[in-house]
This record gives sequence, structure tokens and C-alpha cells, in this order.
Amino acid sequence: MCGIFGYVGARKDAGMVVIEGLKNLEYRGYDSWGVASSVAGKLVVSKDTGKISGVDAKSFSDESTIAIAHTRWATHGGVTPKNAHPHLSEDGTIAVVHNGIVENYRELKEWLSERGHTFMSETDTEVIPHLIEEEMKSGSDFAAAVRRACLKFEGRFAILALHTPTHTLVAARTGSPLIVGVSKKSDGNAEQGYFIASDIPAFLKHTRIVQYLDDGEMLVTDGESILFSDLHTGEERPKREIEITWTVEQAEKGDFEHYMMKEIMDQKESVVRAVNQDEAQIMTLAQSIRDAQGTFLVACGTAGKACMAAEYFFSVIARHHVNVAAASEFKLYHHFLTEKSLLVVVSQSGETADVLEAMRVAKAKRAKVLAIVNVEGSTIAREADYTLRINAGPERAVASTKALTGQLAVLLLIAHALAGKLQEGKTLLLEAGAMINDMLNPRYIERLRKLADRIKEDEDLYIIGKSWNYPMALESAIKIQEVSYVHAEGFAGGELKHGPIALIEEGTPCIALIGKDEVMSDILSNTMELKARGATIIGVCPDRYDVFDEWIKVPDAGTAQAIVNIIPIQVLAYFLAVHRGKNPDMPRNLAKSVTVK
Ligand code: M6R
Repeated sequence: MCGIFGYVGARKDAGMVVIEGLKNLEYRGYDSWGVASSVAGKLVVSKDTGKISGVDAKSFSDESTIAIAHTRWATHGGVTPKNAHPHLSEDGTIAVVHNGIVENYRELKEWLSERGHTFMSETDTEVIPHLIEEEMKSGSDFAAAVRRACLKFEGRFAILALHTPTHTLVAARTGSPLIVGVSKKSDGNAEQGYFIASDIPAFLKHTRIVQYLDDGEMLVTDGESILFSDLHTGEERPKREIEITWTVEQAEKGDFEHYMMKEIMDQKESVVRAVNQDEAQIMTLAQSIRDAQGTFLVACGTAGKACMAAEYFFSVIARHHVNVAAASEFKLYHHFLTEKSLLVVVSQSGETADVLEAMRVAKAKRAKVLAIVNVEGSTIAREADYTLRINAGPERAVASTKALTGQLAVLLLIAHALAGKLQEGKTLLLEAGAMINDMLNPRYIERLRKLADRIKEDEDLYIIGKSWNYPMALESAIKIQEVSYVHAEGFAGGELKHGPIALIEEGTPCIALIGKDEVMSDILSNTMELKARGATIIGVCPDRYDVFDEWIKVPDAGTAQAIVNIIPIQVLAYFLAVHRGKNPDMPRNLAKSVTVK
């Protein structure tokens, strides 16, 4: 969702620093942007609709040592320059950027209007600087005024506020993430200063030392020092400095035109990295699953499809029952939870609001939570009782690719551990990693590019699968929908005859995801049912069958077939987007981290 980035410190080009950093948060999805820096004691504000990528950061290299910036994903009020953040107080000394929703903004706006405040936008955010200003009028200093204002807001949010007269930044969060990048001269850095951002790529170029602001906390910094405290009590909260292992190169797209393709290619190595887990920890976690009285796998979107596939892994490999639920539905499951339940949450970003909500539902029942995440230090990772990282490296394209295969790998590994076959699982996954390395060769990519070109005008596309290939059919549909806007739907092959087969017409493209497994003949029969109704069949399968009009060869990966079968679909989705003139990294209406419920 919205991206926040601010800087205060010794550098004299704060405006440029925040604009440059904001460009690294573009993947979060947004429709307008804005920046405010303090130049000669006055706030200078620029904002606009559209993309920030074309904006020349150098034109913001003002004589400023403090600045805040924002990419807005519209919720309250249309996409207009006026509604873009930052928003200012009545006297123009306070600027605020905000992620989340101030649910009671109407009442606050009315109250502030009665006190003479005027509003320039339709946003909920604009009440924030005005309320802070009002609190200062009653005698609070800036930081105390931000605290008092925050306690009046309902809803989950992260804010960053700049006060020109005191040259101070104050940040607070009750939901959306905020991370501090620390650059200390004493540590050999060129410049003393603090970076405050929604995500690490914003400041990775400047520092790898971070401190995390937790929910219900605030921080105050003038660039020389920083103080973290409890938002409610004001009590100081000392923070550890953590060194991030990601490199700038990992977070860049290098020679690739889009992050999505770069991240698809990263899977040549990332699946193997996911397997690189502490064996003793995996065994302990497998034991916790065995001991739990009810294990629930919970996630959203693509990560949710990994959980659905894992249900089959646990059944086929470990003969162990687990429950799967969409995080947004999980609160309705709370009657099933006890302190003996185990919640396994899966999330790339580690910040998804619905997943955090599910964790809170489970924690209220004192159930334990295991998190499988990609982003180290994320809120989900920190709030869980146990965490496993998938080690995929930064994933910036909105369309999740390498995170999915990393999630599948870790879940498959746990299923093997549960079956007492950890080493067998490791070998299987390392082989799958090598297969992906072979698959992603230029000839294979070119074949998929040509196939995408042939079907790019089709407005409907259906994908079928069975067993773990069924969730992969659902995932294929997500991938195709979100980047190419083609109407794609995934089905369990056996469900076709109960309704969806009525959609098939002469030439309708249908993809069948197939493995050499116990359900192969069933799914081949379903494929024939489609063919008999005129469908054009694209078979993703280790072997060629007559029923296929197009055959996309995949290796035979045994119980890891879901991992290799999804790879050509990711590539196909990418090229469908490109051939249809869409930017696969910036799907409309979507954001990378979904931090609102
Ligand atoms: O960061 P998370 O893994 O928790 O995100 C969950 C979903 O929002 C995410 O997988 C989404 O469905 C992707 N855009 C799909 O590619």
C-alpha cells in the first residue's frame, strides 16, 4: 500500500534522498506521490498524480537536511494532486504522510473545523497535522502532540510527521510497518542520520543497519539521536540495531526489464536457498505440528495457494491432517482454537493485515504461531512464536513468484520431516531446484513468449489441476489475472462437469497442470472432456499426450511437481502482460504489501 520515506541528518540533499528512496518503494503500488522538505525554515511541498519513476530526483537536491515523502494508494478521496500526501497544518509548519485509515476522521474534521481549521483535500489524513497543531496549542511539545493526536485516531496506521521549527521527525504506528535505517558517523558512515521507511529498499543504498518500530510505539529524531517510546505510556523502548543481509544488487532488477522476470529467474537459486534450513528446528516444528490438537495453515492470495498445496503435501507425504483457511476468513474459526492449536501463517512480506489479524485471533486463544516469511524482521516474523525464513531475497514485483516456490519448498520440507523423511525431502527439493535451473533457459523462455503472443487476444483462459496441481491452477489464475488482466480461472479438474464446463467454446484456451502421479489419469480424462467441447489444450506435463494442442514440457519432479509446474505459468503470465502492453510490475489496483484489512 502507501509508501512512506523520511530522512533527517547531516546530508544537505534530503529532498533528493527521499525522492530517490521512494522510487524503490514503487512496487508497493500507488497512484500519486508527494514530498515536503524544510528549506531555510520553510516547508517546500511538491505533489502530483502518476508515477514517480520519471521524476528527476536531482531537482529536489535543495539545501535541506530534513524531508518526508509518500506514494499514495487512494482510499479516501480521488487520485488528485490535492489528495496526495504530505498534508500540512493550518500554519504550514507541520507536514504529515500516512499509511492506513483514520476511521473517525469525519468527527475529527468537524471538531477541527469548529476551531477554525480549513481543509484542502478529501482525505482522512489531513486531519492529522491539524490535530497535532491543535494539541500543540494546548501546550504540548511536538512529540507529545503527535502522541496525543494518535491516541485519538481509530484504525490501523503508520504516520511520519515533520515539524519545521524544531527540525524534528516523529513517527508512530499502530498497524502498518515503519523501519528505521541508522547511519552513524561513529560506525564509519559518511553522514550521521536516520531514514524512516515503510520498507528497507528505500534506504538500503545508504545503510544496512536497521531498528524496528513496533505496533503501539513512536519515535522522535532530530538526526543526531533517536528515541523510541510506547505510544500509550510514553515509556522509553530501547531498540536493538540489526544488520540486514540483503544487498543492494539483490534488490535491483539489473539487466531485466521488469522485476517480475528478474524474480522468476531468481528461482534458479532461491528454491535451493529455501531448503537451507536448520534441520533441528525443522524437526522441532514438525513435532509441534504432530503434537498440536489442530493445525491451521493460514495466508492470503498466492501464499494461501501454497497453504492449499501443503494440505496435499501433509496428506500424501505425512498422512497428517491440517486445516487451511484464508486469513481474511480465519476469525470465524476461533471456536475451533485452544491453547493446544497451532497456527502456521505464510507471508512473503510479513506485513499482511489479514494475516496479522488471524495471528491475534489465535493468540487470544493462547494458540502458538509458526510464521513462514520472506522478509526478515517483519511484523509477522516478530510477533510469531517461531519463524522460518524462505530466504528468497527481496521480492519487489507485486506478482509473487519466487516467494511462492520458496513457501512451497519449506512446506514440503516440513511435510517430509513430519513423515520422518527429512533427508529425502531435502534431496527431492535440491533436485527440483536443479530442474528449475535447467528449465529457465533462453529457448524455454522464448517458447513461452511465443505461446503468450498466440493467445494474447483471448479474453478467457481456464486452468485445471488435481491434488497439489489444483491450488497451482488457482495460483496460475491469480498470476495471469493480476498482470495481464485476462479473465483467468482455475478449477479442480473433477469440478468441470459440475458447472464450469458450460463456459467452454470452440477454441477456448485451457491449461492442464499434470504430474506423473496417482491422479494423472483422472486429470487427463478431465482434459479430454474439455477437448471434446472444443477447448484448445495447453498441457503442462512431463510427457506429451495426443489431447494436447500445445505441450509445455516440465520435468518429472515427483512430490515437488507443484513447484516446477508453476514456473512456465509465471513466465506465460509475464509475457501475456507484456504483449498486451501492461507493465507487469505495476498491476492496476494492487499493492505489494496489503497492510489494510
Ligand atoms: O505478503 P504476503 O505473502 O502476505 O501477501 C499475500 C498476498 O497479498 C499476495 O500473495 C498476492 O496475492 C500477490 N500479489 C499475488 O501475486
